[in-house]
Amino acid sequence: MKITVIGTGYVGLVTGTCLAETGYHVCCLDVDPRKIEILKQGGIPIFEPGLEDMVRRNVAAGRLSFTTDIAESVAFGDVQFIAVGTPPDEDGSADLQYVLAAARNIGRHMTDYKVIVDKSTVPVGTADLVKAAVAETLAERGESLEFSVVSNPEFLKEGAAIDDFMRPDRVVIGVDDERAAAMMRRLYAPFQRNHERVLLMDVRSAELTKYAANAMLATRISFMNELANLAESLGADIEQVRLGMGSDPRIGYHFLYPGVGYGGSCFPKDVKALVQTAKENGHDLRVLSAVEEANDLQKLRLVHKVLARFGDDLSGRRFAMWGLAFKPNTDDMREAPSRVIAEELSRRGAEVVAFDPVATHEAQRVMGDIAHLSFADDMMAALQQADALLIVTEWKMFRAPDLDAVKRALKQPLVFDGRNMYDPAWMREQGFDYFAIGR
Ligand code: NAD
Ligand code: UDX
Repeated sequence: MKITVIGTGYVGLVTGTCLAETGYHVCCLDVDPRKIEILKQGGIPIFEPGLEDMVRRNVAAGRLSFTTDIAESVAFGDVQFIAVGTPPDEDGSADLQYVLAAARNIGRHMTDYKVIVDKSTVPVGTADLVKAAVAETLAERGESLEFSVVSNPEFLKEGAAIDDFMRPDRVVIGVDDERAAAMMRRLYAPFQRNHERVLLMDVRSAELTKYAANAMLATRISFMNELANLAESLGADIEQVRLGMGSDPRIGYHFLYPGVGYGGSCFPKDVKALVQTAKENGHDLRVLSAVEEANDLQKLRLVHKVLARFGDDLSGRRFAMWGLAFKPNTDDMREAPSRVIAEELSRRGAEVVAFDPVATHEAQRVMGDIAHLSFADDMMAALQQADALLIVTEWKMFRAPDLDAVKRALKQPLVFDGRNMYDPAWMREQGFDYFAIGR
């Protein structure tokens, strides 16, 4: 079985590389020649731990190749994964133009049976649209070749993408015909571990599962953020509360960390898209709308703490910001709370000096329009003569800084920690004014 992956971004590149790692021959297509060029040169266009070595190894073994040639890529794979972006439209619904363009390209060039797999996160009903797009382009050619459309949403997390893909909790496959079901089962056979990981279901349920899972996780985060804010008023410590809650196996410890709001390329857009899908079908998802609203407010939580300390006018103030990426171990800046925070500080007249161990380059690209924002080359340099330090992303390197050096660099020992990295009592002992989230 040979595999084509259409779209060589975070999901496509990880999918293609991990499938090659298990022995499949994989061809990755992208319409962005810059990305394909980087890959052909032996680099990777994103930061993802462990991925570059795995790409090199599989290219060297002759199992993994990259191309911008659509005809070549369609001819290559028996299975065609669509892993292109599905960004939010103006009304929040998923923009399907890239998915449908990929589908039409398959229809335009295929010459034999193909299993077409929607790996992108797409609203319920998209498999039908993909089917129609392929059928239409085939008809334009006067062809009536057979093909199947399968939904196989991806659950990987950036920063842990390889492990998530290689050792999945589950592989959700939505499929309506036996031929494609058999091929998909065979395709994922190398990923079975001590028990069955593949969950076969109907296509619409698979499509909805992806949104439902992300919406549930986003809900937990907004819930914890609101509780954290309440804990502050009540004199309780959300970290103690989190442990007390998480120890109930029905609740569990994962995704209970309060912070500066969820960001990234998935939660914000998928919550919006599900709310919109529901609206179009006559349902008002009140819980989820509140999740989104709470998240928008949470992104400004740290700024409000700064204002409570310095007043509304921040002109003449300088703030150091540690962390730009929406979470550690990625250079992804999509929907990063750091942007909202820097924008608001800057709007109020403050200067912001930011440091991130890997996302600076990407941040310069997407935050270049923010006035009074500059980027430091190392974490201590960012602190020089700053009125306070704001911690926005919980990179490991921020966990145990030289606090004496931090104190010496700052104008005053003042830290606003959006990720609860330190023990408040310890920080006070070290002479810091320390403001965290929910404690
Ligand atoms: P991305 O923007 O990193 O990559 C998408 C790639 O597709 C780009 O390189 C783009 O140039 C390419 N592309 C667009 N149209 C194309 C076409 N017609 N033919 C070939 N290539 C084309 O996006 P991503 O983060 O990998 O996300 C892809 C999908 O997977 C989205 O639907 C997303 O919601 C979903 N998803 C993402 C993650 C994640 O953590 N990033 C996790 C799970 C699911
Ligand atoms: C998410 C889903 O976890 C993954 O299953 C899906 O395939 C894609 O979307 P990702 O966006 O890579 O993955 O990052 P994730 O680790 O889920 O974090 C998302 C956001 O939530 C980040 O901004 C993170 O800081 C925030 N978060 C996460 C919290 O604020 N608290 C938590 O407890 C967990």
